[in-house]
Amino acid sequence: MEADKVQKVAVLGAGVMGHGIAQVAAVAGYDVAVRDIAQEFLDKAEAGVKNSLSRFVKRGRMSQEDMDAALARIRFTLDLDEAVKGAQLVVEAIPERMDIKHKVWAEAASKAPKDAILASNTSSLSITKIAEAVPNPERFIGMHFFNPPAIMKLVEVNQGEKTSEATVKTVQDLAKRMGKTPVWVKKDAPGFIVNRVLVTYLNEAGKLLDKYGMEQIDAAMQHKAGMPLGPFMLSDLIGMDIVYNILKVFEENIGPDYAPCARITELYEAKKLGRKTGEGFYSYETRPSVTEDQAEGFDVKLLLKPFVEEAEKVVAEGIASEEDVDTAMKLGANLPRGPFEMKRMGLGEEKPILTEKKDGVLTVTVNRPGKLNSMTAEMLEMIGEALDEAAADKFVHCILFKGAGDRAFCAGADISQFPNLDVEGARELSRLGQRAYRKIMEVPKPVVAAVNGYCLGGGNELAIHCDFRLASEKASFGQPEVNLGLITGWGSTYVLPRLVGKSLAAEMMMTGRRLNAEEALRAGLVNAVYPAEEFEAKVQEFVKALVDGPPLALAAMKKLVNLEDLEAASNAEADEFSTLWNCKDLMEGINAFNERRKPEFKGE
Ligand code: COA
Repeated sequence: MEADKVQKVAVLGAGVMGHGIAQVAAVAGYDVAVRDIAQEFLDKAEAGVKNSLSRFVKRGRMSQEDMDAALARIRFTLDLDEAVKGAQLVVEAIPERMDIKHKVWAEAASKAPKDAILASNTSSLSITKIAEAVPNPERFIGMHFFNPPAIMKLVEVNQGEKTSEATVKTVQDLAKRMGKTPVWVKKDAPGFIVNRVLVTYLNEAGKLLDKYGMEQIDAAMQHKAGMPLGPFMLSDLIGMDIVYNILKVFEENIGPDYAPCARITELYEAKKLGRKTGEGFYSYETRPSVTEDQAEGFDVKLLLKPFVEEAEKVVAEGIASEEDVDTAMKLGANLPRGPFEMKRMGLGEEKPILTEKKDGVLTVTVNRPGKLNSMTAEMLEMIGEALDEAAADKFVHCILFKGAGDRAFCAGADISQFPNLDVEGARELSRLGQRAYRKIMEVPKPVVAAVNGYCLGGGNELAIHCDFRLASEKASFGQPEVNLGLITGWGSTYVLPRLVGKSLAAEMMMTGRRLNAEEALRAGLVNAVYPAEEFEAKVQEFVKALVDGPPLALAAMKKLVNLEDLEAASNAEADEFSTLWNCKDLMEGINAFNERRKPEFKGE
């Protein structure tokens, strides 16, 4: 069965994964039948799909017509015959118990068309063993979506012992047609890629608790190693029962080193399963959080090393390629970098600004993804230094600014540093940003900003100083400082009106309204907008043309385009910016941001 012959998809099981997969398939244009054993499950699933699609519509990511069309393509049924009849792909997402899987698959395989692809969404059971229930195991495969399927981009394509290469190829193609990125798990191994590497790492973290503090480890991994959450907060989010059970499977199938550590076992046995029970490693009466200072004294290598080693075992055991392991960990576990990328960059604390020179391009990555790449004073200094070096380096023909992770280019100045400033400190911060960003305009080489997500405040200010801005369709642009009771800074009061015109600049600055990528394109704020999946390639294409251009002529044109007197404007901006540190409204704005509430400004 080739991918282009697939028209109907049957989904067995209407739970969170099942109805999510049904939604993804319907949005991709397939006719979908979802089957479960009780009407209440189907009703809940239907409501779940409607709810999720409405959110896409509300956020402008899907039209109402497309939502209605997708809904019209899904049927919910109790009848297995009706569900699998005429389906070219059957995806099963029922409870993770081998006896139940065998029963359902024996029946489904006997009723489905003889050439249909049979796929299990299992995250923990052996594909080879589940396939024992069907007469044609060469067409049986794992198609493991991640939760929530509508959002998460990864699909692990898990090959059982008897799965044919043709089946693998078709399912990879189908995953792509559903807007997902497939990785090929070539060998049926416990936990496949993501769970194997991630859950083993969570266990290794637990083993360090006799020497280090829980908050200390979480703080270090979140703030210094660039993980979106520390390992204990992540275990609480996943659920201790799930973590424990996966480790038990590893212990039995891979070896005793994988046995759940004492603390995870203790929490599991005490039914302290994490967020869902209100207590796990942390108590969830209030939202726990850790600060950078708490990380003191923990070397992140202690956990990054075993993390990378586990990924190496996955490759050495022939389960997947290095590239697929990196892709899987980034898309399936939301890591900013895969383990092999981490190894290449040298394990240790993440630098908040990364620079890489290659093929005539200096790439500068704003790298604090856990804080949406918000900009500290230290980072501004590092950007200034990188630009000085680039100006002097004749092998650099173009400079590219990027944001790490997939959520933000940069969400502005780091608000957490504001309360520590006084008027003089604020003036220094204003000057520091102005100097760093002015260098972007002064460096005699073209500078491109590749904006993949939030581009706010000091992030937008960085982008507008560049010569070109390229946006992913997910990008959004804004100057939200007004919500804090602050003015926009770092050169923007002068540069923004000259780029987008006074009226839009005033609107952005005084109302804080965010522009989506299309609006930004219409306003001339960005040069081009690309679909998210093509973004990286298009940026590289754009940059390559600049690298191949005539350096002296480009430098001359850049100078002429930017021929303006910034000095007086910068002085005035720094005065206005720093004077606000005398006002109560600014602290009210910062407190309101931290407390996630609307500020009440009094004009004081
Ligand atoms: N400074 C410091 N931290 C910031 C930040 C900033 N400018 N922007 C985001 N963060 C942090 C958040 O505090 C949060 O940290 P936590 O997980 O430790 O609590 C993390 O980044 C993720 O942000 P969060 O607010 O939870 O994400 P969201 O999806 O709910 O909202 C934004 C995203 C961008 C709308 C929101 O973060 C925001 O409004 N940021 C501030 C933008 C701003 O005012 N910039 C101008 C500053 S002068």
